[in-house]
Amino acid sequence: MKIRFLGHSGFEIKMKNHTLVFDPYISPNELASHINLSEVQPDFVLLTHGHGDHIADAEQLSKDNDALCISNYEVINWLGAKGVKGHPLNHGGKKEFAFGTAKYVNAIHTSSFPDGTYAGNPGGFVIWDDEICFYHAGDTALTLDMKLIPLTCPKLDFAILPIGDNFTMGYEDAAIAADYIDCPKIIGCHFNTFAPITIDLEKAKEAFKNRGKELILLEIGDSIEI
Ligand code: NI
Ligand code: MN
Repeated sequence: MKIRFLGHSGFEIKMKNHTLVFDPYISPNELASHINLSEVQPDFVLLTHGHGDHIADAEQLSKDNDALCISNYEVINWLGAKGVKGHPLNHGGKKEFAFGTAKYVNAIHTSSFPDGTYAGNPGGFVIWDDEICFYHAGDTALTLDMKLIPLTCPKLDFAILPIGDNFTMGYEDAAIAADYIDCPKIIGCHFNTFAPITIDLEKAKEAFKNRGKELILLEIGDSIEI
């Protein structure tokens, strides 16, 4: 499976012949200015919550590529009013799509749209097919609910966790989250985009190493194969 970091919490993930894009925040992000939006071509756009740093390019990417948006009920309604195709989930619900199964799971955070309106409650996604399973946590604090993931989903091969602190859990708590979700391989996100979430990357890697976990930190635009 090929995973490309699009900056902040944004990832492009290829599942067999389907392209999934999570939380696209590319055009407003100066750090991602080398990524051309027209080269990001999702079949599905998955949005963890309504904050601007997660949905900035959702409308354009969905429309330009005739992609299906997957998020909570409120986010899908809000985008639907703008003409975006969508499928709503709510917490604890899962659904089979062409790429595999998506389950919308709990996050401890807030959510509203850039225009200030209610965006429902924030979440994360667990995604799996017959070969691989991963978790994109969205924006969240460390929460005991994460212990439900290994009880209710296939074994995680990797997880994308926020590590930047201030608005989400920091890397110390994220390393504990890696234990809760029983996942050895973590890709960090939601760090170094803005001043309040600037962190020491070596210390972050150390925090995971101390718990026997691997923290992978990608450069914006870079890909890995898992
Ligand atoms: Ni947020
Ligand atoms: Mn955020």
